[in-house]
Amino acid sequence: MNIIKVKNYEEMSQKAAEILLDKVRQSPKMNLGLATGGTPVGLYRELVQDHQQNGTSYTQVKTFNLDEYVGLSGDDPNSYRSYMNEKLFNHVDLPRESTFIPRGDTNNPGQECTDYEALLKNHGGVDLQILGIGSNGHIGFNEPGTSFQSETHVIELTASTREANARYFNSLDEVPTHAITMGIASIMRSKEILLLVSGESKREALAQLMEGEVNENFPASILKTHPCVTIIADEAALGKLAI
Ligand code: F6R
Repeated sequence: MNIIKVKNYEEMSQKAAEILLDKVRQSPKMNLGLATGGTPVGLYRELVQDHQQNGTSYTQVKTFNLDEYVGLSGDDPNSYRSYMNEKLFNHVDLPRESTFIPRGDTNNPGQECTDYEALLKNHGGVDLQILGIGSNGHIGFNEPGTSFQSETHVIELTASTREANARYFNSLDEVPTHAITMGIASIMRSKEILLLVSGESKREALAQLMEGEVNENFPASILKTHPCVTIIADEAALGKLAI
């Protein structure tokens, strides 16, 4: 794993945008894997600003999001579809039909998972996957204990993940209990991975990733076995980690 040390959240977002934009300019037909949550908000802001100032075009790009809450429709303000529309899709020239996110309001989540995995494969897989990390080491919504062989599946969210995400809802009760997520194997098929880590609340997770063993109880640890992972971490997340 290649690690890039940056000062703070702003620098992390700028560096991530620089890497992503280089790829999009080199390969305008690329498949981008996207994440939600607090971590990539700054990255999306940078992409929007770049699109407005420099006109980088996404007309041929396809995007595949990692996950979606089960039970929420794309119109629900807390759905990841709404998040993506608001933070990125509404502000760049990416055709809406080229943006893929698992459907949370399906009445057959199992089928939705099979279809999403097939969709990923039919499009030739993800070229560059953006990831954040949960403080328990989850990537996507693959919570500790998820098989490294897993493909897109339904997962029950842990109490700590629901609590961490409750900040976006009116109350903890409203946070869905399940999500559809790309599996670990699905994520690992990405040709390249960019993991963003910012803030003191991620310090332990980053230390565990850098210093711990590869183990299903810490899902992100699998990234050590991927041939092309770059981590961009800020000083608050790195703490005293010697890199
Ligand atoms: C979101 C996702 C999650 C988040 C993780 C960190 O699509 O897949 O793995 O990246 O929960 O969330 P934040 O960035 O809010 O700390």
